[in-house]
Amino acid sequence: QKVTAFAPATVANVSCGFDILGFAVEDLGDKVSVSLSDSPGVRVKTISGDKGKLPYEPEKNTCSVAIMAMLKELDFSGGLEIDLYKGLPLGSGMGSSAASAVAALVAANTLLGNPFEKKDLLPFAMESERIACGAAHADNVSPALLGGFVLIREYQPLDVIPLHVPRGLYCTLVHPHLVLNTYDSRSVLRRNVSLQDATTQSGNIAGLVAGLFQEDMALISRSLNDVIAEPSRSVLIPGYDEVKEGIKPAGALGCGISGSGPTIFILSPSEEIAWEVSRLAQNVFDKMQLPIDLYVSAIN
Ligand code: HSE
Repeated sequence: QKVTAFAPATVANVSCGFDILGFAVEDLGDKVSVSLSDSPGVRVKTISGDKGKLPYEPEKNTCSVAIMAMLKELDFSGGLEIDLYKGLPLGSGMGSSAASAVAALVAANTLLGNPFEKKDLLPFAMESERIACGAAHADNVSPALLGGFVLIREYQPLDVIPLHVPRGLYCTLVHPHLVLNTYDSRSVLRRNVSLQDATTQSGNIAGLVAGLFQEDMALISRSLNDVIAEPSRSVLIPGYDEVKEGIKPAGALGCGISGSGPTIFILSPSEEIAWEVSRLAQNVFDKMQLPIDLYVSAIN
């Protein structure tokens, strides 16, 4: 018996919500199959689409780490085998490790007859983030599991709040062919935040959440502003400032670094504008002769 599940790419932080906001896109993501095996324990059987880069050792692979955390809570002494099909590039800022972990958990949970409610799988997925980047952040795994926009109001105890997705909101993902791993992009962050920056950031988070519920595109646009992580991280992404400058006159709501980068996300109030700004980003990177991938997606 084999169960296959899909989990999507996600945009963590959404500019102002460092470690506490994220959303999921459509179609783009990872697939994981989990099957019962005669030999006890968890084994990663095959990995494809990763160009040979991901580990097979169960204690290092995000799929097996997540499943082992889940099995620890269950009275399960059998064996499971994992086949991982990567659709997402590694080190891209699109929640690649989260997508693998969530797809693995959903497949394993289904295979075992759903012993857990969906949202109760989150702590297991967060364990795999700890392995992947040294921090058990939940802003990729939560939207990968629950879809749409998600707020992590508190980590201890975990309090995850699904938010409203306004009609007509589209996302463009601009993925320059560079690898930034989250561990490194977290280490460039300032350890302390001034009172003024904390106030500005809080106002923007509140504005963004209100804008989502009120479907107020102008408010969303004003709130897409990050004074905490973006200043330290954007310097690692060539073309970032130029993309940021160009998209607003074209009608986009705003942009930011997707997770820890280098992918740039752009939010637009229509699919047409989302494609328009993708052409604009293409021009910026063409000039630098830096190859990129582009995705346009509704938010799901
Ligand atoms: N919130 C995390 C970070 C997301 O910015 O480091 C990583 O994808």
